[in-house]
Amino acid sequence: MTGSTAKLELGGKTHELNVRSGTLGPDVIDIASLYASTGAFTYDPGFTSTASCESEITYIDGDAGVLLHRGYPIEQLAEHGDFLEICYLLLYGDLPTKAQKEDFDYRVTHHTMVHEQMTKFFTGFRRDAHPMAVMCGVVGALAAFYHDSIDISDPHQRMVASIRLIAKMPTIAAMAYKYHIGQPFMYPKNDLNYAANFLHMCFAVPCEDYKVNPILARAVERIFILHADHEQNASTSTVRLAGSSGTNPFACIAAGIACLWGPAHGGANEAALNMLAEIGHVDRIPEFINRAKDRSDPFRLMGFGHRVYKNYDPRAKIMQQTAHEVLGELGIKDDPLLDIAIELEKIALTDEYFIEKKLYPNVDFYSGITLKALGFPTTMFTVLFALARTVGWIAQWKEMIEDPRQKIGRPRQLYTGAAQRDYTPIAKR
Ligand code: SDX
Repeated sequence: MTGSTAKLELGGKTHELNVRSGTLGPDVIDIASLYASTGAFTYDPGFTSTASCESEITYIDGDAGVLLHRGYPIEQLAEHGDFLEICYLLLYGDLPTKAQKEDFDYRVTHHTMVHEQMTKFFTGFRRDAHPMAVMCGVVGALAAFYHDSIDISDPHQRMVASIRLIAKMPTIAAMAYKYHIGQPFMYPKNDLNYAANFLHMCFAVPCEDYKVNPILARAVERIFILHADHEQNASTSTVRLAGSSGTNPFACIAAGIACLWGPAHGGANEAALNMLAEIGHVDRIPEFINRAKDRSDPFRLMGFGHRVYKNYDPRAKIMQQTAHEVLGELGIKDDPLLDIAIELEKIALTDEYFIEKKLYPNVDFYSGITLKALGFPTTMFTVLFALARTVGWIAQWKEMIEDPRQKIGRPRQLYTGAAQRDYTPIAKR
């Protein structure tokens, strides 16, 4: 990387800091030596101005509404690619040749079953446990079953763990759903592709044949592609920080799932649909818009706004098209929630507050409507997000582990607590 320098005046001294330029996007000021040379930290809670790493995987231009995976626009990948093709691209940096794709598909397909003992693991949960709670527990427990792929210093074991996670997340997600609704688990079928296999494991029952609707399977595949990776978002940063300690990849992914669950992040798709249901009728939209604008009210329009996209989230457009496609295929003519969503979007995009705050629908705004139409309960929405994002988490984890400069992440702080003071016996307090 070539770049210039930045000068910092601090403590009567001028400090020169290297400025580095990437392939695309903002330059970075390298502050790695700042504390050693100035005795001061930088301060950026929420990391609104901080690049935590160097990466070649995903590029986002929030103002232009651009999302590239290894240089390929999300619009082209969503239209032409299949999910395992994008998994290969994220993991290895290029689109696979025919032979590479066939080999990758074979390896993933033949790792989709989980250790039979894991079925016992589910029975410890209440049936009404939130499926994301189950995912946190079961994915973390994979380390207790697959001891032969937790040595992260071994490239072969890293690759096996990556394939296992990509392959087994649909199986575990489907098992979490089946357990939730009290139906028997369905085993993966190797003659179905990734998305079709997932739909089969979720919606088939042992007592009759189940034919996967190819239009719906393609829609699910597109949903997975849209959610596969997204630069250094909160859950990916969680996975990177967890992985920086050298822990195993199963534990890292479980940490990512836990972070994704939050309503400000991956939990927004569930929260957005619940919000549309709470609004209930287009006539009540102004009431909720006013609440979202009221700083004393913690209510926010779920599915709106983004830390990076200050223009349209390119995934939201494709998600909206997919929603119409799925509703059309299922013959759902007038979904009241879709009517509310379209009207809410129209009103919000003309409202001064949302324009000034640059709040646009994000990927979560339309995904809930689509997933509900496909037959998933709202509690499963973030599970599907986690399923799809696993490849992004793994690709980012792999990039970090393979970086020879990698070290444990250990931020510092601005301490504003009590200065040193002496202990006083309780009798004197
Ligand atoms: C995802 O990072 C990623 O890439 C995430 C993700 C991925 O693929 O990994 O894209 C997936 O998480 C999408 C986001 C899903 N979350 C939601 O839809 C929840 C609702 N959105 C907000 O919570 C919020 O917009 C965030 C969390 C998404 C972004 O928050 P920021 O960047 O920290 O912005 P902010 O909270 O500082 O808001 C800036 C201003 C604030 O007003 P002021 O304090 O400046 O007066 O905009 C307001 C906020 O009050 N605002 C909203 C709002 N989002 C922000 N007001 C009403 N409704 C909203 N949705």
